[in-house]
Amino acid sequence: MPNSVAYNSLGQLRADSWSSLEESAVQLLLAGAQQRPVEQLKQTITGLLDVLGPIERFWAFPGMQSFQKARRLFAAGKYDRFAALVRAVNGALATDSFRGDQPGDLGGEDDAYDRVAHPAEPARADRPYFEVLVVEDMGEQQERSLREELRRWRRADDPFVYEIVVVPSLEDAVMAARLNYWLQACVVRRRFAYRSRHDSSSLRQFVDSVVADDLMERSPDERAQILARTLARIRPELDQYLMTEIAVEDLAGRLSHHFRRIFHTREGSLELHLSILDGVAARYRAPFFNALRSYSHRPTGVFHALPISHGKSIVDSHWIREMVDFYGLDIFLAETSATCGGLDSLLEPTGPLREAQQLAARTFGARQTYFVTNGTSTANKIVVQALVQPGDIVLVDRNCHQSHHYGLMLAGAMVTYLEAYPLHQYSMYGAVSLREIKEQLLALRRAGKLDRVKMLLLTNCTFDGIVYDVQRVMQECLAIKPDLIFLWDEAWFAFARFHPVYRPRTAMRAARTLAETLRQPEYRASYDKFAAEVGAVDAADDEVLLDRRLLPDPARARVRVYSTQSTHKTLTSLRQGSMIHVWDQDFSQKVEETFHEAYMTHTSTSPNYQILASLDLGRRQAELEGFELVQKQIENAMRLRDAVDHHPLLSKYMRCLTTADLIPAEYRPSGIDQPLRSGLPSMIRAWDGDEFVLDPSRITIYIGTTGIEGDAFKRNHLMDRYGVQINKTSRNTVLFMTTIGTTRSSVAYLIEVLVTIARDLDAQLADMSPTERAAHERSVLRLTSPSTPLPDFSGFHPSFTDGRGLPTREGDVRRAFYLSYNDSYCEYLTQDEAEQRVESGDQVVSTTYVTPYPPGYPVLVPGQLFSPQILTFMRSLGTPEVHGYRPDLGYRVYVDKALEIAATTRPPQPPDSGP
Ligand SMILES: Cc1ncc(COP(=O)(O)O)c(C=O)c1O
Repeated sequence: MPNSVAYNSLGQLRADSWSSLEESAVQLLLAGAQQRPVEQLKQTITGLLDVLGPIERFWAFPGMQSFQKARRLFAAGKYDRFAALVRAVNGALATDSFRGDQPGDLGGEDDAYDRVAHPAEPARADRPYFEVLVVEDMGEQQERSLREELRRWRRADDPFVYEIVVVPSLEDAVMAARLNYWLQACVVRRRFAYRSRHDSSSLRQFVDSVVADDLMERSPDERAQILARTLARIRPELDQYLMTEIAVEDLAGRLSHHFRRIFHTREGSLELHLSILDGVAARYRAPFFNALRSYSHRPTGVFHALPISHGKSIVDSHWIREMVDFYGLDIFLAETSATCGGLDSLLEPTGPLREAQQLAARTFGARQTYFVTNGTSTANKIVVQALVQPGDIVLVDRNCHQSHHYGLMLAGAMVTYLEAYPLHQYSMYGAVSLREIKEQLLALRRAGKLDRVKMLLLTNCTFDGIVYDVQRVMQECLAIKPDLIFLWDEAWFAFARFHPVYRPRTAMRAARTLAETLRQPEYRASYDKFAAEVGAVDAADDEVLLDRRLLPDPARARVRVYSTQSTHKTLTSLRQGSMIHVWDQDFSQKVEETFHEAYMTHTSTSPNYQILASLDLGRRQAELEGFELVQKQIENAMRLRDAVDHHPLLSKYMRCLTTADLIPAEYRPSGIDQPLRSGLPSMIRAWDGDEFVLDPSRITIYIGTTGIEGDAFKRNHLMDRYGVQINKTSRNTVLFMTTIGTTRSSVAYLIEVLVTIARDLDAQLADMSPTERAAHERSVLRLTSPSTPLPDFSGFHPSFTDGRGLPTREGDVRRAFYLSYNDSYCEYLTQDEAEQRVESGDQVVSTTYVTPYPPGYPVLVPGQLFSPQILTFMRSLGTPEVHGYRPDLGYRVYVDKALEIAATTRPPQPPDSGP
């Protein structure tokens, strides 16, 4: 048995087991030849075969029959043939050489391994391989003939090649969908069992319990539907087909929309074969990439302001020729601004770009998707401008990305900053609790301003990996404000769509589930019961509403959800490739026009086509192999966590922060401290019900005991000495992100680097003089003690509030920002001067955003009052990089005259219109 734990990706366990099996089989041969004892080796091999036994039945290659054959050869003592077969299989798995045209199943032929080791035809690497799950309780002979029948339809010019895996029960089918990431389609036949005949206890850590026990009492149609629904929940991208012997015409109208097609069993398998290929081809399409590629290979005469097109300004240059050597010619061949000739316009797409965006919408579960070529920074501004009118109130996490601060300022929103829970020990913020959001909405209701509240804007997941219960947040907010719009900044979360446990916590999936829930009669009944208990939410007491789970009125609630994703951060795309996903019931009626204007406002008229084409391909990849890549990503992350926490030297200086460290217990009713460490079912339980969960692929390592500050650790140790790039640090932590690009070797390299750093530290400590050691201990004490508390939002100066009714938190950031364009309204105060002024009771007001890096969020925004807490925090910061603060002059603040003028020039209330 390989010595590491597999958390999520059985693929790694499987690959490791086959490699170990080959190694042991070879040793067994050698030992036999040298007449050394072989008992130990035989035990190891038996153990490995026992690990692989329950796994292999879910994969078409090498196939269960080949696996059984290996077992038989071993049991019969034919070690040379056993070793040859294992070597052939392992070699084929390791090099992917089985992905060619050879049948996947090696069983039943004496020289089966020869076909893998010496294929008659070389594998066609250009022809992707996948596997198809067939769910039917059939005999071995039947299975073999189905396989042969489908193989017979293969053509040399088929774009793909596939093999089938047959499983006899629903339970096996669900396990196969969870475990076999090469599956792209599933054929459900009518006769299948519920429970698996096999002992799958060793796989329990990878799969959850499945569906209702009364399945076998249901009709075959119902069973097929339940299976289809279950599979779609786990793998929505799988094409599902139903094969049945009863009247397909009747079924066609009734059966689940999850089936792509229904076939009559007796009509043979050709249509099925063609449909399987066609289904995968539909996802394989990359219309914009293909259009750009064909366009770039056509000779053109460019009389446009684009000298670099087709490399023309470069290839004959005497001075910049290395540009082509470095980038390759194709990138310049693709440099064009054409919007016709097969290409399309980003600002008004009607051809391949439109189609690429539609494909992306389907892949990400959106109703509309828009590509953005200037990152999520721009995507955020587009969405905010499209939806928010000057004077609208927007609730936003103060700890959000700067693009929101600027976007809301430009849009003229009245901004209510929400407080995330602080993690003083690590100088970080967590996320905004639902209670805080409800409190602010209820305060606005009390002040009679609820009608002006337009949007709630949150970051999911946060930089540090805290993930919201997206559906619950929306559900409870809609109970208070039924037309509230949600913008979920998923800059870090595009990959989450491709993992079944993450998916429900993405904006698009949560929006769809919420809309479906609100339509159900059972929901209506629960709502009526809720309404009878609470009374009308509009009139209910705040405390009652804060303390219970709220249900929106299905007759009034509108599901209006937007998500912005930096595709380039977590999936494949060139830098700056982002997407906006929309799931808004009122989009075409209320937003489409303003969205278009906002898109035009922020989008270049010369967008980069290579970025757009990479988004198209990134979408294709995510749809066809996202499931595999994300599983591997999480597996790598968990291996990194294990390596740090279990290494005797590393654990002396470093520790991976767990869910329990980053999410206080009050937000985790499951009580599970380290969800994935206790197996996937635990992760599912925590992710089902906890208010916040931690994305395990982001690893915050606590380094307080090294005595080195996070930023110095990043710059001096990781980057300068070892070329390891990381993104974020805090006073005593460093954040390592794993992505779909993280490999096992890169994890191994990082561990080596960390061990070297720890070893150096050990050596330095040993050589330190008593004075040096005392200084080191002081650093450790400083970094391991709680920091100066992170400051709360102090409030806007009254001149930048609307001054009407009960005071609430929101402020007019735009007015506060632009007032400072008049120099005579502003002055600079040093840290000392600001402290003195605040101490003597003056109202000191910032003209701008003041953002120290790290932690990277603004401690002051335009119009905000300085507080003693903010100034103490700023004084305690060691960081030299503070945006909005000039070391030579200090803070830029308003003079009293400016505040008086601001008080008399409050803008009128916005008209009651718009989205
Ligand atoms: C939460 C969040 N939103 C948006 C952005 C901006 O994304 P982009 O770099 O794609 O412009 C970032 C960047 O780090 C971010 O952290």
